[in-house]
Amino acid sequence: MMLGLMSVSSRSAWTQRSYTEWIRRGIIQQRALLWLPCGGVGGALTPPVDSIVTVEQAVNVWMQCFQQHGISEPLLSSQYIIAHVLGKKTLQSLERRMLQERLSDKERETVWALCSKRLTRMPVQYVIEEWDFRDLTLKMRPPVFIPRPETEELVSLLLKDLRSQLGVRALRCLEVGCGSGAISLSLLHSVPQLKAVALDQSQEAVCLTKENADRLGLLDRLEIYHLDILKEADLTLRSCGPVDVIVSNPPYLFSQDMESLQAEIHRFEDHSALDGGLDGMSVIRQILTLAPRLLTDEGRMYLEVDPRHPPHIKGLVEESMLGLQYLGSHCDFTNRLRFCILQKRG
Ligand SMILES: C[S@@+](CC[C@H](N)C(=O)[O-])C[C@H]1O[C@@H](n2cnc3c(N)ncnc32)[C@H](O)[C@@H]1O
Repeated sequence: MMLGLMSVSSRSAWTQRSYTEWIRRGIIQQRALLWLPCGGVGGALTPPVDSIVTVEQAVNVWMQCFQQHGISEPLLSSQYIIAHVLGKKTLQSLERRMLQERLSDKERETVWALCSKRLTRMPVQYVIEEWDFRDLTLKMRPPVFIPRPETEELVSLLLKDLRSQLGVRALRCLEVGCGSGAISLSLLHSVPQLKAVALDQSQEAVCLTKENADRLGLLDRLEIYHLDILKEADLTLRSCGPVDVIVSNPPYLFSQDMESLQAEIHRFEDHSALDGGLDGMSVIRQILTLAPRLLTDEGRMYLEVDPRHPPHIKGLVEESMLGLQYLGSHCDFTNRLRFCILQKRG
């Protein structure tokens, strides 16, 4: 299953490797901690909140607690939460001496409260209520899909093409399934001449995209619609077209794979953001059907899909004369075929 959280994120500057290196060089001492296992909060064994601890000790105590409870990426989880409470994105951005300083009572209580949420398997991105996507920091809220690092590559691919067309005229882009707004907002942030339309079937996603756009000062170039493209095809066509570009990271998992998702994803993220039906293609097929009526002549479409989809999409487009041409597929950083580029036939 390719949908993992956190491990290769844009915030992972302070990796397990560098932490180990700090221990090796004596910058951090990894001590046997006396607090574990200890008092219970919400049914889970957690360290007592009234201990006096330094930043370094808090990182260790929570890393060990997460480990004991089988929480994935225990060190990163502890680091991100504690960095967040200290007003930083990573602990690496703290001055070294601060690792030895004591947390204030308020900081300690907040760390304990947030780490206790992580013990329920809540993803760190929801615990700290924000995450980075490319050069933007976005608000995150369950159950809205947390943007993954592969999608940053989809945006890079699109930006490369967009930049080559700039200067000719103002461009308009449609994002199907905007989630937190990561793709549309990145594009708007990078291309000042661009206008975007973003739609999602989830009211929570629409609200979060709007909130993120507002915070980033991008709302004046963004239209946002609460639309389900499967149920409201005509309204989608009337409200959103014509556009020069369509981009989407739609739900593309095969339904049978939903049961094997990591607990963090299965429990907290909206299943309709993930489940693409029996063959993972239900929303993709609808995008392919609507695209020729939404795109301007020679307008392009950029899709993020499962590695099994590109040959299938190519075949579908070539056999069914959808009015689209399949331009090519691209791999993600793990070398799996994940991105499809198509164009409306002139
Ligand atoms: C995989 S998430 C991607 C979110 C965001 N674009 C990103 O990359 O972080 C897919 C999104 O598509 C939306 N979606 C699923 N089915 C849809 C439909 N039939 N019509 C419109 N949006 C849909 C989901 O609500 C979800 O926000």
